[in-house]
Formats: sequence, structure tokens, C-alpha cells
Amino acid sequence: MFDVGIDIEDIERFQKYAKTDRFIKLCFTDYEIEYCYSQKNFARHLAVRFCAKEALIKSLSKEQQSLSFVDIEIRNDPQSGKPEIFCSRFKDYEFKVSLSHDKDKAIAIVCRIK
Ligand SMILES: CC(C)(COP(=O)(O)OP(=O)(O)OC[C@H]1O[C@@H](n2cnc3c(N)ncnc32)[C@H](O)[C@@H]1OP(=O)(O)O)[C@@H](O)C(=O)NCCC(=O)NCCS
Repeated sequence: MFDVGIDIEDIERFQKYAKTDRFIKLCFTDYEIEYCYSQKNFARHLAVRFCAKEALIKSLSKEQQSLSFVDIEIRNDPQSGKPEIFCSRFKDYEFKVSLSHDKDKAIAIVCRIK
């Protein structure tokens, strides 16, 4: 089995959030919050992770019920920067992710394998 999900977001939407805001805590893991707010433009890193989580949910289709955003985590390889995506609720599935952002928009695509 193989499926795919994609999502795009306006970066501007994430500009208003501080790292301790409820919305941020609901959507992002501690690892992700530390990563995003350590970057020069935190909003684009938040936006692209939000996209990746929506894209993963799309790739699951019917199984997605009751999945919370913090069940999904994006980690970057410390050497190369390449992102990986993990979903603690679906350990039997393998997911692949690719992220991109420019001045205004962020986009992510996720492939689900199995
Ligand atoms: C990795 C690379 C392609 C990113 O491209 P970019 O246009 O700068 O940035 P984009 O907005 O498209 O993508 C950014 C995302 O790429 C992802 N990324 C970073 N390094 C990556 C890598 N090695 N492989 C895959 N994805 C990577 C990250 O998820 C990043 O977002 P994040 O920091 O929020 O997690 C770019 O930095 C690059 O080309 N690096 C290699 C440089 C190089 O060797 N150049 C010389 C030969 S041409």
C-alpha cells in the first residue's frame, strides 16, 4: 500500500505566535518548538511543519480519526538537515516527507508506505 498527502499554508498566519502560546503547544512537540524558534524566521518553519502534519493526515485518509498534531513529529538530520516524519500512533507505517518554504508560502508532501 502506498498513499500520498500534500498541504500548503500562508507563512504570515504563524507570525503572531510566541513559543509558549496554547496553539503552539497543541500543534508542535517540544523538539519542533525548539527547532523552529532557534531559526531566523520561525514562522516559516512552523508553517511547513503544520503543512507536513496535515499532509500526513491526508495520506492516512480513513484511519486519521482522533489523531492529534503532537502525535506527529518532524525531525531534521543534525548533519544534512534532511527532515524525517514520525507518527507514534502508526508505528507499522513508514512515512517520507519533503518540505519547502519561501517568503510567503510553505508546502509539504508526505508519502505513506504500507
Ligand atoms: C537542502 C536544500 C535543497 C534546501 O533548499 P532551499 O531552497 O534552501 O530551502 P527550501 O525552502 O526548499 O527547503 C527547506 C527545507 O528543506 C529541508 N532540508 C534541509 N536539508 C535537506 C536535505 N539535505 N535534504 C532534504 N531536505 C532538506 C528542511 O526540511 C528545510 O526546512 P526546515 O528547516 O523547516 O526543516 C539546500 O539547502 C541545498 O541545496 N543544500 C545543499 C547545498 C549544496 O550542496 N549545494 C551545492 C551543490 S548545488
